[in-house]
This record gives sequence, C-alpha cells and structure tokens, in this order.
Amino acid sequence: TAAEKGGYDHYMLKEIHEQPTALRQALSGRIDLDRGTADLDLTFPAGFLDSLDEIQFVACGTSFYAAEYAAQLIESFADVRATAELASEYTVDGGGDPRRTLTVAVTQSGETADTLGALRRANGGGIRTLAVTNTLGSTVTRDADDSLFIRAGPEIGVAATKTFASQVTTLALLSVFVAQERNALSAADARDVLTDLRGLPGAVQQVLDDAGDVREAATAFVDASAYFFVGRAHGYPVALEGALKLKEIAYDHAEGFAAGELKHGPLALVTEDTPILAVLTEGTRPEETLNNVAEAQTRGAPAIGIVDGSVETNSLDTAFSVPSLGPVTPLVANVYFQLFAYAIAKQQGRSIDKPRNLAKSVTVE
Ligand code: G6P
Repeated sequence: TAAEKGGYDHYMLKEIHEQPTALRQALSGRIDLDRGTADLDLTFPAGFLDSLDEIQFVACGTSFYAAEYAAQLIESFADVRATAELASEYTVDGGGDPRRTLTVAVTQSGETADTLGALRRANGGGIRTLAVTNTLGSTVTRDADDSLFIRAGPEIGVAATKTFASQVTTLALLSVFVAQERNALSAADARDVLTDLRGLPGAVQQVLDDAGDVREAATAFVDASAYFFVGRAHGYPVALEGALKLKEIAYDHAEGFAAGELKHGPLALVTEDTPILAVLTEGTRPEETLNNVAEAQTRGAPAIGIVDGSVETNSLDTAFSVPSLGPVTPLVANVYFQLFAYAIAKQQGRSIDKPRNLAKSVTVE
C-alpha cells in the first residue's frame, strides 16, 4: 500500500532514500575515533587474522559487487591478499593453506543457494568462514563460523539498493578491523578511514537532495540504445552495480566496464545513442578514466560523470557532484546511479519493485 511505501511510488525509491538511516545503523557503536578502531562484535582464534594468507569473498549479484569493493579495501588497508569470486564459480581447488584462509560469504538475504553452496565448499575444505548478511537467523548465519550484520532493515524492492550501501560500509569496517589485528594500519590512518565512513550518511543525503535534477537529466537519455558504465579501482565495482540496476529495473541493455578496457573491445559498441556514465571521484584514478571517456565522446557518445572536484571535468556533458570521502566516495557516487536507473525505469512505466523474471532471493543453484 501507499502507506507502507511511506509516500514514495515504489519500495525501491523508499529504500534508496532510507540509505542515510541504514548507514547510521551500520556504523552505530562500531567506530571509536579516539582510539582509531573499528569495534566489531567478532572474535577469531588468537593469531588467526594475523597469520592469514588470503581472504576470499563469495557472493552473487549486487552482493558480489559489494564483495569486489571490499576485496580492494582489504588489500589496501590490511596487507593481505583478498579476492572476490562469484559464488556459483567458487571452488576450493588451487587455494593456499586452508588454515591460513578466511572465506566471507556476503548475502543480503542469507538464503541465496549459490552462496550457501560456496560456503559449504569452503567449510568442507577446512576453511574458517564468516557470513556478512542483513538477516538474523538466516541459513548463512547457521552455516558459517561467525556472522556480521549489516543492519540495513528489511528491503522489499527486488533490486538491492540500501543493502549494497550497508554491505560496503560494514565491509569497510571489517577491513579496518582486520588491518588493526594485523598491525597494517596506523591509528592515524584508521582514524581517516573511520572519519570518511562517519561522513557517509550526510554525503548520501546530499545526493538524495539532488534527486530532482537526476530525474530531469535522465529524460534526455531514456531512448538510448544502451548504457555503458565505466570506472577504475573502487569505481569499477560501482560501474558494474550501476549497470546491473539499469538492466534489472529498466530492461535496457547496460554494461559496466573497467574504464581501461573500453578501448580493448567495447568501444566498437559506442555510438551517439550510448551514453557513458563514469565514476570520476577520489579512489577511482579519475584522470585516466576521463581520457577513456573522451575516446567515447569522440565517437559521439554523451558523457555523464559523477565528480568530486578531484579532476577538471568541464568536458563532460552532464556532471553530478559528491563530497570527497576518501575510499568510500564511489559508494556515494553509486546513489546517483541508483536514482538514474530508477528515473529511466519510471519513465518507461516498468514494474520497478518486481521486475519480470527476477526474484528477491534465489534459492536454487
Ligand atoms: C537475487 C536478487 C539480486 C541479489 C542476488 C543476491 O538475484 O535479484 O538483487 O543481488 O540475488 O542476493 P543476496 O540475498 O545473496 O545478497
């Protein structure tokens, strides 16, 4: 009913707007700025995190993109190899010592069969496992050795929005937590990251306050033949997630590419009817990406950039600004992609909360 949607036309839009609250909940009581620590209710055997050779993330769909983002954060903060693998492709073959490996299953619902299958394979291989989920009492929390909750509150829209933001935020806290245990991050550097995380709810709110502008800008692109999302570093998983949102709810062709790969093939697809949406903020090597965007513009493609002033972006056709928040700036940029996908789908009258052929939680492999 309209009341349940809190006055919004769709649950998805309501959940997009709930992100500042969701993020406050994810962070609540978990940051000690004085000490420069992430306080998570997690206990591992003594010396376990310190002796790790590898952290493996397994997940599907949007949760996989959150996992890719997290793997990058872990590698940069915690000085340990971190990988994200699609749960349906995960095997324990060829890995290192299982006793020096941690496998983290990231799943909003806690019930995705592919992710539970991967977790089972890790458990079977003697690897310690951690579940990162939104759902208390879900199967994943029973099957994993430990659980960490993202506290996003219920998400009804089939297309994940606030849970992605809460996953990346909680996993960023986990990255700091692991880094501390491994003495890989100074208290001062940890404090910088934690301060950036603290800034997330307010920064996301600033983007939401701009929703009308996104809606207006999107009208110019509603007849596009395809949409290409590009980004580097932390902007890459966000580009993939931006494209997935558009596919899911607008049924339009959208792809996310590593910006540097555009010239190695996808550029052949670029025409004046294929807008390029680029993440050009801190944490994404924006100068190099801007060169790739220019290559697409030369072929007539309109360019839309999410910017934070870290590079000069006058060449863009449309720019949306976010505040700089260090490595989590691209997570804020993602909110523009959510609003953009929603606007395109809305103008086409799509079934936004329940897209055709999709389910909120897929319990078959
Ligand atoms: C389904 C949903 C996706 C979701 C994926 C993983 O395919 O339609 O939106 O990202 O499952 O869900 P999970 O609950 O494991 O995060």
